[in-house]
Amino acid sequence: MNAMRSHNCGQVNETLIDQVVTVSGWAHRRRDHGGVIFIDLRDASGLLQVVVDPDAVAAFALAETVRNEHVLQVTAKVRPRPEGTTNPDLPTGMVEVYATEMEILNRADPIPFQLDEDDVSEAVRLRYRYLDLRRESMQKIFRLRSGVTKYFRDFLEAENFVDIETPILTKSTPEGARDYLVPSRVHQGDFFALPQSPQLFKQLLMVAGFERYYQIARCFRDEDLRADRQPEFTQLDIETSFMTEEEIMNMMEQMIRGLFKDKLDVDLVDDFPRMTYAEAIEQYGIDRPDLRIPLKLVSVTDLMRDSGFKVFATPANADDGRVAALCVPAGSQKMSRKEIDDCTNFVSNYGARGLAYIKVNDTSAGRDGLQSPIVKNLSDEALAGVIERTGAKDGDLIFFGADKAKVVNDSLAALRVKLGHDLEMIEGDWAPMWVVDFPMFERDEDSGRWTSLHHPFTAPKVDQIDDLKSNPGNVLSRAYDMVLNGTEIGGGSIRIHQMEVQKLAFEALGIDDTEAQEKFGFLLDALRFGAPPHGGIAFGVDRIIAMMSNVESIRDVIAFPKTQKASCLLTDAPSDVDKTQLRDLHIRLSPAAQALKSGDQSEG
Ligand code: AMO
Ligand code: AMP
Repeated sequence: MNAMRSHNCGQVNETLIDQVVTVSGWAHRRRDHGGVIFIDLRDASGLLQVVVDPDAVAAFALAETVRNEHVLQVTAKVRPRPEGTTNPDLPTGMVEVYATEMEILNRADPIPFQLDEDDVSEAVRLRYRYLDLRRESMQKIFRLRSGVTKYFRDFLEAENFVDIETPILTKSTPEGARDYLVPSRVHQGDFFALPQSPQLFKQLLMVAGFERYYQIARCFRDEDLRADRQPEFTQLDIETSFMTEEEIMNMMEQMIRGLFKDKLDVDLVDDFPRMTYAEAIEQYGIDRPDLRIPLKLVSVTDLMRDSGFKVFATPANADDGRVAALCVPAGSQKMSRKEIDDCTNFVSNYGARGLAYIKVNDTSAGRDGLQSPIVKNLSDEALAGVIERTGAKDGDLIFFGADKAKVVNDSLAALRVKLGHDLEMIEGDWAPMWVVDFPMFERDEDSGRWTSLHHPFTAPKVDQIDDLKSNPGNVLSRAYDMVLNGTEIGGGSIRIHQMEVQKLAFEALGIDDTEAQEKFGFLLDALRFGAPPHGGIAFGVDRIIAMMSNVESIRDVIAFPKTQKASCLLTDAPSDVDKTQLRDLHIRLSPAAQALKSGDQSEG
């Protein structure tokens, strides 16, 4: 095959018996059986059992010094394993190779953890990521990842999409996060921003007439990190011209369905269910519901308006208030008092000030069949209404959230998912869906200003363009999100392709002409020169791979990820730079930052 190996370890099997092979790889494990040494040799293709006995004098002397993760080259004869020692789980498990020559290509210090150890801390794994990546499970993930991006490319190329790279050193592209900035040396005091997405460039590529663009693009967002968020992550970024949202969604569904079939042999449903944003919030409290969980929120706001129970009546009568119920089938039997109390603690993380509940003992007995400290506060009509709307049966447990709608939605949405998992109610493996008809804008609580729910280039519904000025809160957008098992895996929209409409959208966002020119003048210019109707989508590649690999965090599917604190434990980035570098970049640290840094050093 090449100078250092005639075969890969994983290829050596019964068909090669009696042949001499040369293999190279890492000593995965060495076992000394008093007289005979066994080495499991590992390369990228798999494991192979090497036997060294004292008759091969030189090889044996070396084998005695081999430690885990030494790099070896072995020449050996293939032979069947003795009866009773075969391993049918391994492709090479019917054979072993009998070493005649061995060379240690490189030694390894004792490694900080064993590759098959399960509970290694993430800090250690990330510090020695190159060792962590040697694990079979990690190798599998990155091979899948490579296969997935190849699948995407093949699919899109077959549909005439063109792969085009867009700049990394660029101007801010607002996607709702903070920018990572790069100071310019040449232009004193000026900064590049790393792209939060290629959004504006892909739109310009539509103005440029490519009609179908894609890119596997790195995006950078300085935002609070969670299991499914990294400061740099990868999008499959797509844009098309002359396609409706319907056509784009259908094509993307076909791509994702094909991917799951090809890589996991999973048949996703034929037509992904669609739900409006309003329905999603009403029934699930969130715009990315996990449809595998058969629980729904039910509004009982109107039933509580006249109840004297202040906890419910106050939000029920407030403009932005909501009272909602979540009925858990057989919850009275399944959940202990302590588990119910735990739920109260759980929702407090989402700002809820309490979590009322009713145990439904006997629906035929009116209020006497209901057990709860709050029953006494509610009228017969309200109680009957709750039972009717939730469809509660004997033995069920009904939770209530009452607060500002946002608090109720956030807390019951999270509770719904928690209960779905805790009570093992998950139905089916994969529940893809689309959420559509998003509002264009949402009100920023702090500033009171309108902000884009997606980004400012999303088109409004055609018949609502006039409302952009008069009633922005009412305008729906032509955006669509693909959701899988409660994770947003992709999002896109039809874009604004007319300059006048784009200006109206900026106005609604409180961006005046001067600011619009300064920040997005190039886009407004481009829209004046024959921009076609266009729209697209971007998928979160890391999230898709994480779900397909059944791992919790996207850190596990990124070769060299950042920690929750947005640093790299392997390279120790971000880190100090030379004073001269800073001077060249026309940057001086604030006294506070300097004090902090000298503090760091004296501690370290
Ligand atoms: P959006 O901001 O929804 O849309 O991003 C698209 C998809 O990217 C993934 N994603 C992330 N993955 C990991 N870490 C992050 N910090 C992160 N942020 C987002 C999500 C998300 O669905 N330009 C638009 C797309 C368009 O309109 O075409 C955009 O970037 O899976
Ligand atoms: P209290 O009158 O404060 O003792 O509350 C009575 C019940 O209502 C308790 O079970 C509380 O957990 C619950 N509760 C209090 N505030 C809320 C709220 N905002 N939403 C839902 N339940 C609440």
